[in-house]
Amino acid sequence: MVLSKTASESDVSVHSTFASRYVRSSLPRFKMPENSIPKEAAFQIINDELMLDGNPRLNLASFVTTWMEPECDKLIMASINKNYVDMDEYPNRCVNIIAHLFNAPLGDSEAAVGVGTVGSSEAIMLAGLAFKRKWQNKRKAEGKPYDKPNIVTGANVQVCWEKFARYFEVELKEVRLRDGYYVMDPEKAVEMVDENTICVAAILGSTLNGEFEDVKLLNDLMVEKNKETGWDTPIHVDAASGGFIAPFIQPELEWDFRLPLVKSINVSGHKYGLVYAGIGWVVWRSKVDLPEELIFHINYLGADQPTFTLNFSKGSSQVIAQYYQLIRLGYEGYKNVMENCRDNMLVLKEGLEKTGKFNIVSKDNGVPLVAFSLKDNSSHNEFEVSEMLRRFGWIVPAYTMPPDAQHITVLRVVIREDFSRTLAERLVFDIEKVLHELETLPSRITAKIVLADDEKEAAANKEKRDLEKTREITTVWRKFVMQRKMNGVIFHLSPSLRAARILSLLANLQLLEFLLRQDSSADFAAISSPELHFPIFSLLRPLFVLVFSVTNLFFTMTQSKTARDTHVSVHSAFVSQYVRTSLPRFNMQKNSIPKEAACRIIYDNLDLDGNLG
Ligand SMILES: Cc1ncc(COP(=O)(O)O)c(C=O)c1O
Repeated sequence: MVLSKTASESDVSVHSTFASRYVRSSLPRFKMPENSIPKEAAFQIINDELMLDGNPRLNLASFVTTWMEPECDKLIMASINKNYVDMDEYPNRCVNIIAHLFNAPLGDSEAAVGVGTVGSSEAIMLAGLAFKRKWQNKRKAEGKPYDKPNIVTGANVQVCWEKFARYFEVELKEVRLRDGYYVMDPEKAVEMVDENTICVAAILGSTLNGEFEDVKLLNDLMVEKNKETGWDTPIHVDAASGGFIAPFIQPELEWDFRLPLVKSINVSGHKYGLVYAGIGWVVWRSKVDLPEELIFHINYLGADQPTFTLNFSKGSSQVIAQYYQLIRLGYEGYKNVMENCRDNMLVLKEGLEKTGKFNIVSKDNGVPLVAFSLKDNSSHNEFEVSEMLRRFGWIVPAYTMPPDAQHITVLRVVIREDFSRTLAERLVFDIEKVLHELETLPSRITAKIVLADDEKEAAANKEKRDLEKTREITTVWRKFVMQRKMNGVIFHLSPSLRAARILSLLANLQLLEFLLRQDSSADFAAISSPELHFPIFSLLRPLFVLVFSVTNLFFTMTQSKTARDTHVSVHSAFVSQYVRTSLPRFNMQKNSIPKEAACRIIYDNLDLDGNLG
């Protein structure tokens, strides 16, 4: 009896998971529990808490990848138990591919110098250390003081630069921002350079507004200054976001190792490198730019292995995932993804402009993001917009700019690969709803005065505004529905393409029948029509062959173009033409679309549903 009681109490497989005693009592929060619990119970407890986290795909604050192809998810799981230090093949391949992408001046069989990191922050620490050590060595050799190194940057730098400065005792000399100019001014930066400057750090894709800084101008001005002073102050490019954007959609832009003073570049694999969080890269121009004394060599894992990272062990899944993206997408795929992000950014930007309520602070040709501020924030501000959007599930940060521009508050939406056209349109729609709602709400400042003045009048005012709000929302809806109705059907074949296909099919049918007849098969003769038995058809054979060849050639050409344009499996799910254009919202779609695209569109909407507070 005793035995069976114990078994039924403790055997989780007997009870429903939620009824088992492990889930019925709470666990100590900050202390290790005394006893073990069954794996099902542990899973359920943690899984339940995770449900409370925001939906990462609706977190538009982050640059970090939130969607990858299921095939890559499988690879990630398959390599989850591998340690990065035990494998040196894949990181090397990625470093070389990225170095070539950044135009490193490598000889034919020369290996690139670089390393995989946890993200751009670690990459920047390593690059900064290399600059500091090189500068110190030079100063020591010249018999000059080497205790006051500094880095010149814009005040818009990401916090990791401040971390580097504090952790590694380097002064950060920041170029101040000004109204309407939110990146580092190259002229001012070069003016601030002195003999203790270990490098100037330029950003390709400012965190605040996505803008690419003018690295070419910085390089040219710095070349001049180095000539005048006899220094050789180098440049580092923080291409955390832009490094995987510019090479694909602005290949002519000179920002990388094509510029002689650019000695190292970092990039986040987990941003536009399209890999989940946990991977970054730093690449040096050549061996001489990474002091040998910073590289450690270990041999106890087998062969001699150089290591230059802040940590030792780390998971290798992200490296594998980066390699998957590089080979799966290729140049074409990355270009497609980046173009699509840019297109979706424009859709969002235009939608916001149409409201007439916002100033756009970001530029079209940087990182695909939209930073915008309210034209009039005297009654309601950007923080309120951000707060109200949370009710719809959206996480859109509002923040003030750094010193000297801190009176500007912006909202920022980062367009990632999985921020599809559907989501862009829904976000505009939800922002419109928020704006209308805000209009009906008393300003937080005025509210206090109104309440103090006359509560009755305030209530009447609110009632009136509520009515206005309902009317306005109805008008917006009506307009919206009409627009959708007018949108019509998007997917169709052009008439010339249709004609080509029909011609080609007819020619092929005729030829097939003709050839079969030449084969004089008795069965075929019995079931086919008699007229083709005339010898005249033998004379027509060259004509058939000609028609067949020409139409087939044309068909193959158009077919292959069509396949490339429409075949969803070639493109990443968010890049296929089906997901790049909007569907009529309230009408039935005329043509079929592939199941992957249909699922994608529905999943995107499902992510938002259920978040309506
Ligand atoms: C310009 C810039 N540099 C560095 C970083 C830090 O990157 P990570 O998150 O990969 O460490 C960021 C992150 O947003 C960034 O925008």
